[in-house]
Amino acid sequence: MAKKIVLALIAVFIILQFFRIDKENPAADPAMDFMTITNPPAEVASILKSSCYDCHSNQTKYPWYTNVQPVAWWIKDHIDEGRDELNFSEWGTYSYRRADHKLEEGVEMVDEEEMPLPSYTWGHSEARLSTEQRELLTGWFTELRASMKAAQDTTAAAPAEEEHADDHEH
Ligand code: HEC
Repeated sequence: MAKKIVLALIAVFIILQFFRIDKENPAADPAMDFMTITNPPAEVASILKSSCYDCHSNQTKYPWYTNVQPVAWWIKDHIDEGRDELNFSEWGTYSYRRADHKLEEGVEMVDEEEMPLPSYTWGHSEARLSTEQRELLTGWFTELRASMKAAQDTTAAAPAEEEHADDHEH
């Protein structure tokens, strides 16, 4: 009896291996990429590439175990959901409000060690962040929010409101 169950499980496992996930990365326009647009310091860029871009960009690198089911489905799910929530490859298409909100969430999630997903760092030790790296990344996100806000306020201020905007600064 037990032997039959084991054999059946093995058979199911083998059959699952015929299901492949789609590993083709969607097209990415470098001009729309977060890196091109915000030009972060090298260390921040390297953190983003090694800790976030596999799930939050169209430049995913798939490790070997994404050839093994059902792990591959589970990982693909994270990638699809991750891109859906925040896609650094499409940064240039985000409205000011959306970009600002994503950065705000980013600070929070990195601070609370929710990102990068802990299940991801099991297999990607290079993606694990030290406290210093977390502070570097959240510091950059915060700085970026401030400069985006300043730019937004400038463009939002119509000529008639210029005086008012000036008053505000003083
Ligand atoms: C293994 C895949 C994976 C990695 C790596 C990863 N994320 Fe995520 N991220 C997700 C998924 C899945 C979600 C959506 C579910 C959730 O919020 O937990 C998400 C959600 C987010 C959100 C929330 C967006 C919103 O609007 O609520 C932010 C911000 C975020 N991630 C930032 C990051 C940053 C910054 C990094 C790198 C330090 C990172 N993530 C690394 C998978 C990942």
